[in-house]
Amino acid sequence: MAVDIAASYRARVMNETHSGQMRPVLGIESSCDETAAAVLDGTGRILAEAVFTQSEEHARFGGVVPEIAARAHLQRLAGLVQGVLDEAGVRAGDLAGIAATAGPGLIGGLIVGASFGKGMALGAGLPFIGVNHLEAHALTARLPGLFEAPPAYPYLLMLVSGGHCQCVAVLGLGEYRRLGTTLDDAVGEAFDKAAKLLGLPWPGGAHLERLAATGDASAVKLPRPMLGRPGCDFSFSGLKTAVAQMVAKGEARPQDIAAGFQASVAAVLADRARHAAAMLPEATAMVVAGGVAANQAVRAALAAATPLALLAPPLRLCTDNAVMVAWAGLERLRAGQNDAMSLAPRPRWPLDEMSPPMKFR
Ligand code: KG4
Ligand code: ZN
Repeated sequence: MAVDIAASYRARVMNETHSGQMRPVLGIESSCDETAAAVLDGTGRILAEAVFTQSEEHARFGGVVPEIAARAHLQRLAGLVQGVLDEAGVRAGDLAGIAATAGPGLIGGLIVGASFGKGMALGAGLPFIGVNHLEAHALTARLPGLFEAPPAYPYLLMLVSGGHCQCVAVLGLGEYRRLGTTLDDAVGEAFDKAAKLLGLPWPGGAHLERLAATGDASAVKLPRPMLGRPGCDFSFSGLKTAVAQMVAKGEARPQDIAAGFQASVAAVLADRARHAAAMLPEATAMVVAGGVAANQAVRAALAAATPLALLAPPLRLCTDNAVMVAWAGLERLRAGQNDAMSLAPRPRWPLDEMSPPMKFR
């Protein structure tokens, strides 16, 4: 029988200090190619945060290499965690709990981060929280102080990153409905592939945006997949193929192709956002997350698509980070939740277990 060691500390889960405030929470992120650690105080104030981006180690392969990612997490994580604890002036024993991403993501990195978190939690006698990476993105907008007021439930999340592309109804803590997802590539992946076709370095999203700024979208005709289709699923492989064919023909200018590609993606995302808003008429806001949220054309299109307020956390909290993991852990601890040490990392872990499995991630 699996012994739930963390549960034996249940009495301490709330970990209230004498002032009635929860103790700090440590967050760990290692699901893809960012190694990150952060400490929040019991109210959610950021005491320390650190991110090590591995993109240099993967760049020459033109994408994230799982084995290299896992090794890099292993090399970096202990130092990053020690660094944020020191900066926050907090020792492991002072924490209310340790939250680590347990999925979805690359299994090697997940095992490194979750095992590290569990080991630390065991050693210090603390609760462990295995956080769903998508839930962490979904709850980031609720961090105190980020917006004038945190969005009230229910709200919409547009998650547009290199690994994930989905629209989620955030109904409450632990209550999510996936309204749509990609049938093939994630949107960031599409940016990266289009950029590669245009001869730009990986990851190419930001390079493509710079090139697009000098081009004319109306000079090229590219498809806008899924536009007008019911629901809010996404598909980008047809657009990528069209870019590949256009590049191969060599007739259009690269900057015009970049501009046309970006305009297509922005139009598709705006259309999907409109559909999502119609699927959740009670939504109070639309939150964007993921690296593609850095794209100004995408942001502008999403902001104009619906009457909902578009909430974009600062970029460092939109992309993969550990603040969001610590915050999700804090929210779950507050709700009296923690996980068993037997919790296994899950490379695929849909936010909404009722949804059909995604094709890729
Ligand atoms: O969220 P993120 O940092 O990592 C994950 O994929 O989880 O997102 C990275 C993705 C990459 O595909 C990158 O090319 C894309 O976000 N990206 C952009 C921009 N900046 C980053 N895509 C379009 N325009 C940008 N300015
Ligand atoms: Zn992410």
